[in-house]
Amino acid sequence: MRIILLGAPGSGKGTQAKMLVEKYHVPQISTGDLLRAAVAANTPLGQQAKAVMDSGQLVSDELVLGIIRERLNEDDAKNGFILDGFPRNQAQAEALDALLNELTWPIDAAIAIHVDNDDLVQRITGRRSCKDCGQVYNIFTTPPKVENVCDKCGGELVHRADDIEETIRKRLGVYVEQTSPLLAYYQQQAKLHEIEGTGEINDIFAKICAVIDTK
Ligand code: AP5
Repeated sequence: MRIILLGAPGSGKGTQAKMLVEKYHVPQISTGDLLRAAVAANTPLGQQAKAVMDSGQLVSDELVLGIIRERLNEDDAKNGFILDGFPRNQAQAEALDALLNELTWPIDAAIAIHVDNDDLVQRITGRRSCKDCGQVYNIFTTPPKVENVCDKCGGELVHRADDIEETIRKRLGVYVEQTSPLLAYYQQQAKLHEIEGTGEINDIFAKICAVIDTK
C-alpha cells in the first residue's frame, strides 16, 4: 500500500499517519519529521532547513527530494509507505511520479483531509509533540494525562518552533498557493479521495481506512 496524505498544516496528517502505521504496518514518511530530526542533530542539511522552516516557507525541492530518495531506498519502504507532508508542490509531485515509475511502485491513493482555517489555527497552537517518540497531543482536545509528559513513553512534550500564530498563517498561505493545486493533479490521475477532517479522530481514521481497504 502506497498512500499520500494531503492536507493543510494541522489537518491531522501526522495524527492519522501514526494510526495507519499501527494498522497497516507500513512506515510513515514525513518530510517535516525528517527535516526536524536534521535540525535537532544540527547536520548541514538541518542548518540549511531551519530558518526556512521557522519562517513557514517550503524548504528547497532539491533538498527534500534528496531526503525522500534516500528514505524510499530503506528496506522498510519496500512493502509500502504513507507519505505525510510530501509532495508539497507540482515539481515534487512530478519528481515523485518519476521516481516511483522507475521502481514500478505506483501510488494507490492520495487522500486529502479538509479542515476549516480557524480550526487549523486553534489545533496548531494547542499542539504538543513528544520529543522522543513523536506522539502528538493537543492541550485543548487531547491532552496528556500528566502535563508535558508523553503518555506513551514518558518523554517531554514540546511546542514546535513554527507553531506560532504568525508563522501558522504563512504556512496556510503556502499551502493554498503551492500544495492545494495537487488535488487537481491527483484528481486527473483518478487517485484523489477527499475526506472531511473535522470531528472525532477515530471517525476520520475509519473514513481513511475505508478508502485504503478498497485498494
Ligand atoms: P510539516 O511537519 O509537514 O507540517 P505541516 O504540513 O505544516 O503539518 P503539521 O505537522 O503542522 O500538521 P498535521 O496535518 O500533521 O497535523 P497533526 O496531526 O499534527 O512541515 C513543517 C515544515 O517543514 C514546512 O512548513 C516546511 O518548511 C518544511 N517541509 C516539510 N515537508 C516539506 C516538503 N515536502 N517540501 C518543502 N518543505 C517541507 O494535528 C495537529 C493538531 O491537531 C494536533 O495537536 C492534533 O492532536 C490535533 N488534531 C488532529 N486531529 C484532530 C481532530 N480530528 N480534532 C481535533 N484535533 C485534532
